[in-house]
Amino acid sequence: MMKLAIFGSGSGTNCQAIIDAVEAGALDVEIRCVLSDVEDAYILERARKHGIPAVWFDCAPFKTKLDGEAERKVLEILEGHGANFIALAGFMRIVKEGLLHAYQGRIVNIHPSLLPSFPGLDGGRQAYEYGVKYTGCTVHFVDAGVDTGAIINQKCVAIEDADTLDTLMEKIHAQEHAAYPEALQWIAEGRIRRAGRRTLLD
Ligand code: GAR
Repeated sequence: MMKLAIFGSGSGTNCQAIIDAVEAGALDVEIRCVLSDVEDAYILERARKHGIPAVWFDCAPFKTKLDGEAERKVLEILEGHGANFIALAGFMRIVKEGLLHAYQGRIVNIHPSLLPSFPGLDGGRQAYEYGVKYTGCTVHFVDAGVDTGAIINQKCVAIEDADTLDTLMEKIHAQEHAAYPEALQWIAEGRIRRAGRRTLLD
């Protein structure tokens, strides 16, 4: 059974989509806890509303990564809640070796672009400003790079002439909310097989 910990730094709409999929019986995992590096992030409130343990952890002194004492603390929290799998859902920090090693092959992330295009911060904005006609979202395994891990699921969004960055982001988010629960269910069912850089769906 996948015992999931969800990490986020912001509003948590992807976390909500995962919670909703579990409650609707479309995603066969247990959500053990929701963790955030931002004390007042709405993702924590969403978890509490569903009776899911919601935990803030302090990442100081680091600004952009989860490392050192904070990483040790997070590992303790995960163990305490019996989590065996991590879904990053708008978690705006780089995950480092300690967590990657402890949860090797069991950390996934969602990114608002069709990777490998537009990795890093603001993938949706990057695509919009570049002027591509299609973009989307990607669910991928997390490795030591930034948004470089093996791709599990992608969904495509057309950028129409009338789109503003806001309307584009709405379309991307809608696709994310379908892509993430779908990818997690594939993993939970044991259907994702690794073949080098590729993942294959059995
Ligand atoms: C999502 O669009 C997700 O793809 C993005 O943050 C947003 C979080 O929204 N993640 C990244 O950019 C990671 N590099 P949410 O808090 O409403 O789920």
